[in-house]
Amino acid sequence: MQFRQRTHKCGELREIHIGKNVILNGWISRIRDLGGLIFIDLRDRWGIAQLVILPETHPHLAEKAKELHSEYVIWAAGSIRSRENPNPNIPTGFIEVLLDDFEVINKSELPPFEIIDDLQTSEEIRLKYRYLDLRRPSLQKNLITRHRVYQIIHQYFDENEFVEIETPVLMKSTPEGARDFLVPSRLNKGKFYALPQSPQIFKQILMISGFDRYVQIVKCFRDEDLRSDRQPEFTQIDLEMSFIKREDIFSLIEGLMKRLWKEILNIDIITPFQKIKYEYAMNTFGSDKPDLRFGLEIKDITEIVKNSGFKVFTDTFNKNGKIALINAKKCGNFSRKQIDELQDFTKKYGAKGLATIKYQNGEIFSPIAKFLNEAEINQIFEIAEVEENDLLLIIADEKHKCLSALGALRLEIARRTGILYNLENIYNFCWIIDFPLFEWDSTENRLSPMHHPFTSPNIEDLQLLDTDPLKVRAYAYDLVINGAEIGGGSIRIYDNEIQQKIFKLLGLGEDDANEKFGFLLDALRYGAPPHGGIALGLDRLVMTLVGTENIRNVIAFPKTTSGLSLMDGSPSFVDKKQLDELGIQLIKE
Ligand code: AMO
Ligand code: AMP
Repeated sequence: MQFRQRTHKCGELREIHIGKNVILNGWISRIRDLGGLIFIDLRDRWGIAQLVILPETHPHLAEKAKELHSEYVIWAAGSIRSRENPNPNIPTGFIEVLLDDFEVINKSELPPFEIIDDLQTSEEIRLKYRYLDLRRPSLQKNLITRHRVYQIIHQYFDENEFVEIETPVLMKSTPEGARDFLVPSRLNKGKFYALPQSPQIFKQILMISGFDRYVQIVKCFRDEDLRSDRQPEFTQIDLEMSFIKREDIFSLIEGLMKRLWKEILNIDIITPFQKIKYEYAMNTFGSDKPDLRFGLEIKDITEIVKNSGFKVFTDTFNKNGKIALINAKKCGNFSRKQIDELQDFTKKYGAKGLATIKYQNGEIFSPIAKFLNEAEINQIFEIAEVEENDLLLIIADEKHKCLSALGALRLEIARRTGILYNLENIYNFCWIIDFPLFEWDSTENRLSPMHHPFTSPNIEDLQLLDTDPLKVRAYAYDLVINGAEIGGGSIRIYDNEIQQKIFKLLGLGEDDANEKFGFLLDALRYGAPPHGGIALGLDRLVMTLVGTENIRNVIAFPKTTSGLSLMDGSPSFVDKKQLDELGIQLIKE
């Protein structure tokens, strides 16, 4: 099993190497036999080098080359010369290696797909053969960018006197929002650990221990429904600070973003970031993670149409709902079919209907025009700033449904009209602030925390806790980039009594709270400093930096949307013996 070790990397060869003898190691990416010349593209992590065999002078090499196939691993020795037909699209495109000798180091079976970037293969096949998929230059580039992000993070937080501390992966199951992944304990039969949804409680305890500034790049686990930006195990940049105000977190994170964007993308971003109140974001963009790169803002027309002749509108008003619209600029020529598609789209977001008004050639086309008088139409046109060839999309519904459906529609219109496509290299950062502390959980019929139960209420709203808890604002904040929630955090409760009160409002009895969070409540009795923090979704941050919509493109070994790892086949059944040791019996479905 001898092979000749490389003197150079494939991807590093340039014109300064012309005349040098080199040995390369790598994978065969492509072979082209032109008769008088044989070209082999050899690939390694650093790039692709073109190898040339001249059959006329090296007939034995030409003969040997007939045995070569894609993805064979070879060593190749030769001299660098300049290319007759340079390829300016790749860094090694001006040179090639004229071969003196080569050998196969290892063969490869025919791969199930070609190792190129613009491949059509289904993602399932790619995930099953992830080791081949990961040979693709674009995935390698993404993971190398991810690596650079780790380095910058470590350096940045070290400079800012943070201490990196590991927190347990096996911990107590404590409800935090999503479902826990549970791990049975062999030594303590019938008992379970949970995998952390985040190190939230541990980092607060580290503040009580006096570390003052904690950071960790940490795996978190949540058993929730997956989407293109969600994985069951994902990575956070998790941090916590003592004796701070939320502005300290803002400027710290803004500094990190500035550094990342400069070092990774060579882009100077402007700080401080815009701060937008939750209420405003919802009313204007129909989302608490608004994409602010374009307008298409939501306009409330409840007051204008509340007494109109359209029953849907009047009923909605009488039930305390909301009637609002977006103006899809220049979409007046949308066909019946396109409008039907938009209706179906909004239905997915729970909207009961979508009313439209088109303005074309000075005329109004609308199924609801007959219910509206001239004054109502005029006011709608004024508020929506209607111009020739515009299309108004109107939804009447319960407030939250109306806004979130319009928010989704806003993004869909931006996608369909190419607005988003043109904004690819623009980055808009904002902080969403003043979230409500609670939201109403209508299935459980109780309050639930909007962020998590350790978030401090805004002290100005403390008296509302007893009278109107849904009106209480939290000291919580999210970092949003181009419509993606990149991070979330809050100033925490450091007073044991307020913490107990919040648990009570959340429907946790004293015993329950002690059983689940007793260790935190205890710790809060021993001199807890004021503290707060944030966690950034590292995977989502890297997605933004490399420009992908799919979280699986920035994780080496991701799960599918049904939580499967197709390469190693997890989750899988286990032996009865293993279950017996754990004292676990399976129920047949
Ligand atoms: P939160 O639950 O908002 O806060 O999570 C912080 C950030 O983590 C990312 N994220 C995810 N990324 C990929 N897949 C997932 N399933 C997933 N879930 C969350 C998001 C999100 O903004 N302990 C608190 C933080 C704190 O208060 O300091 C927490 O975990 O980008
Ligand atoms: P209908 O009276 O059901 O024929 O509806 C007339 C128009 O109003 C159709 O274009 C419906 O899509 C629209 N519509 C129905 N319900 C709503 C609603 N809740 N919000 C907005 N438009 C609606």
